[in-house]
Amino acid sequence: MNTVRRLTPLDRIIDQGQRALETVFGNPPAARPNPAAGLPEVELDDSERRHAAGLMRINHVGEVCAQALYLGQAAVARSEETREHLLHAAQEETDHLAWCADRLRELDSRPSVFNPLWYAGSYAIGTAAGLRGDGWNLGFVVETERQVEAHIDEHLDHLPPADSRSRAILEVMKADEARHADNAEAAGARVLPFPIPWVMAMASKVMKAVAYRV
Ligand SMILES: [Fe+2]
Ligand SMILES: [Fe+2]
Repeated sequence: MNTVRRLTPLDRIIDQGQRALETVFGNPPAARPNPAAGLPEVELDDSERRHAAGLMRINHVGEVCAQALYLGQAAVARSEETREHLLHAAQEETDHLAWCADRLRELDSRPSVFNPLWYAGSYAIGTAAGLRGDGWNLGFVVETERQVEAHIDEHLDHLPPADSRSRAILEVMKADEARHADNAEAAGARVLPFPIPWVMAMASKVMKAVAYRV
């Protein structure tokens, strides 16, 4: 007879720890094919390649943060529905993470050395948002995803024109992030009051400036 074992708090902590290590040091697999898979290799000169790698490293850090935020938020979500909502979005963020990592390798570059810090900080922020209740939790998703969508748009403008492979990945990510925000809005997100969106934008500005380089 099959029995389903309920997760104990210790199981949950171990599971969260494993996911953190996989995100930061491992290479979690994507569930969907890489959007750039069928595209031809692109020719970039050295400065274009470095610039594209800087932008894709920012996007990779963004996805490390997204994993941590969503898992932190899910860990303290009040309703099972909100938890499911967050974990489903986190799965799509894993695809983004894997695609950005693939592209960084193709560009002969690597993820940010500060990923453990980005992860820890984002997990703490996600947990803090989640503890305020599910309306806040979902509101935080909406604000994060809208800001990410805007920065992906900027990157689409600033990537080297020839870099169709990075662009293909970002186009799909942008559509996913917009859907994550719409779904969270529909699920009852509350609008975050000033200065929270502003503080979030400033924090991501710092992250982008650092991650472009290391
Ligand atoms: Fe994402
Ligand atoms: Fe997202």
